[in-house]
Amino acid sequence: MPGFTLTDSQQQALLQAARQAQRNAYAPYSNYPVGAAVLDAQGRIHAGCNVENAAYPEGLCAEAAALSAMVLAGGRQARAVLVVGSGGEGSWITPCGGCRQKLREFGAPDLIIQSANELTLGPRHTLAQLLPESFGPGHIKGS
Ligand code: THU
Repeated sequence: MPGFTLTDSQQQALLQAARQAQRNAYAPYSNYPVGAAVLDAQGRIHAGCNVENAAYPEGLCAEAAALSAMVLAGGRQARAVLVVGSGGEGSWITPCGGCRQKLREFGAPDLIIQSANELTLGPRHTLAQLLPESFGPGHIKGS
């Protein structure tokens, strides 16, 4: 099965949306603002930022916020997600474990997960690479 191809203009639009989201992040505790942007199957882009909380475990990741925006807009299939956080060679941001599972709910194994920072694009992975042998809706449906 051929993988999903992200065009340069889609990538550019995701980068712009994620960087804008990162600028609005609420991260006073970690000082690590993150922005994420999801491209859905309709070609729409949904952005989100991390939202921390004085009760630390109640904080929300940028990817979760972006997925929530997609679902709110009626989107059910993510094709690509771009995440912006500070870091670079050897320490590129990638979604945390919990967010990888959240992405799994709405993404195929070939879902593109593109890392970036404020200055440049980083490595690109697929969901299958970051969350192999994963558990998903197919395990429950029909059971
Ligand atoms: N964070 C995200 O929003 N996305 C990631 O991919 C990694 C981590 C947030 C959570 C917390 O607000 C801050 O970054 C530091 O962990």
